[in-house]
Parts: sequence; C-alpha cells; structure tokens
Amino acid sequence: MHPRIGLSGLALAALLMFPGGVGAGAQLDPDQGRDILNRSCTMCHDMRRIETQAMDSETWLATINQMLDNGAELSTIEQLILLDYLVRNHGPIPDGDGRDLLLNRCTVCHDLERIREHRGTPELWQDAVQAMLNEGAYLTDPEYAILIEYLSEHFGPDND
Ligand code: HEC
Ligand code: HEC
Repeated sequence: MHPRIGLSGLALAALLMFPGGVGAGAQLDPDQGRDILNRSCTMCHDMRRIETQAMDSETWLATINQMLDNGAELSTIEQLILLDYLVRNHGPIPDGDGRDLLLNRCTVCHDLERIREHRGTPELWQDAVQAMLNEGAYLTDPEYAILIEYLSEHFGPDND
C-alpha cells in the first residue's frame, strides 16, 4: 500500500514543491498529470467519471484516497502531481440549475477549461451554445434556456 498524502502533506507539498500553491503548478509539466490520469484512473471505470466532476482540492484529495481504498496504484509523488492536475483542470464551478448540464453535456468533446476561459453576455453565450449544438451537442429547449441563464450569470463579462 502506498503512503497517503493527507491535508498536512498537502500543505507541506504546497510549501516545498509548488511555491505558487497547489493549483498553481508553476513547475509541473501539465502532460504529466494527464499521463498519470490515463495510466492509473481508467482501469475500473472510464474517464467520464472524472470529466463530469468539478471539485476543490480537499474533495479531490478525498476522492484520490477513496480510489486508493478501491485499489488504485499511485506513488505519493504521483498523487501530488495528479491532485494538482485535477484541481487545475477539474476545479469547482458554481452551484446552480445549469451545473449538471454543463458537467454532463458540455464535457463530451472537450474539457471544461474551454468554457471556463470564455466570458460572454447572454447573446454571446447563445451564439456559442448554438455553435455547439451545430457541432453535435445535445440539449432540449428547456435545458438550453437553463444553461444559457447559468452561463450568463456565472461566466458573464463581469465575472472574474
Ligand atoms: C481499482 C479500481 C479503481 C481505480 C483504479 C480508480 N477508481 Fe475511481 N471508482 C472506482 C469505483 C468502484 C467507484 C464507484 C464507487 C466509489 O465511489 O468508490 C469509483 C468512482 C469514482 C468517481 C466518482 C465518485 C463519486 O462520488 O461519484 C471518481 C471521480 C473517480 N472514481 C475518480 C478516480 C480517479 C481520479 C482515479 C485515479 C486516481 C480512479 N478513480 C481510479 C474504482 C476505481
Ligand atoms: C459534439 C462536440 C461538442 C460538444 C458536446 C460541445 N462542444 Fe464546445 N466545442 C466543440 C468544438 C469542436 C470546439 C472548437 C470549435 C472551434 O475552435 O471553432 C468547441 C469549442 C468550444 C468553446 C470555445 C469557443 C471559442 O471561440 O474559443 C466553448 C466556449 C464551448 N465549446 C462551449 C461548449 C458548451 C457550453 C457546451 C455544452 C452545451 C459544449 N461546448 C459542448 C465541440 C463540442
């Protein structure tokens, strides 16, 4: 069994390895986290389990520990690199009616990062989501309305 990184381990790692804090990952090769994910996290379930999550570092840490209990094999350093990767690429998004739609329907062809980087007025989001429907995304009319409201509220021009 591999040693676990607890929350104190997390704080230590943040100081020693990631001066910008876990989540900043200044010196990490982003591909390394993805490699670990592909190698260690897809033998029991597919990637959808992970792609449809948006969680903070504590919850990702708890999930990694839960997966180690399930039988996942990760060295301590791999746990740290993976944690950093997950927090950066699958970090939290605001609660709201559109959250599940965003996580389930909008992560099929690309990850949430594509959406997180985007800010828009309701009109721009309508255009963007319409373009995604043309690409093959699936939303019913009521779901479309819910998602546009969610995106406009949380990913509007005035949100950080
Ligand atoms: C040895 C098998 C196994 C491996 C390897 C594994 N998982 Fe899992 N995973 C499971 C099982 C079983 C469940 C569903 C039951 C549970 O939640 O423990 C699950 C569920 C999940 C969930 C959904 C949890 C929820 O509450 O809905 C996430 C997220 C997840 N795994 C992430 C990962 C990540 C990240 C890795 C790589 C570190 C990983 N898994 C590797 C067995 C595994
Ligand atoms: C069927 C595949 C697919 C699905 C599902 C999908 N997208 Fe996309 N998305 C794409 C493709 C392909 C691109 C790249 C298009 C381009 O660069 O012109 C993209 C790019 C984007 C971009 C960046 C656009 C830009 O100008 O940079 C945003 C924002 C986006 N998608 C949002 C969403 C949202 C919101 C959803 C859920 C409704 C979604 N996507 C679902 C295929 C998809």
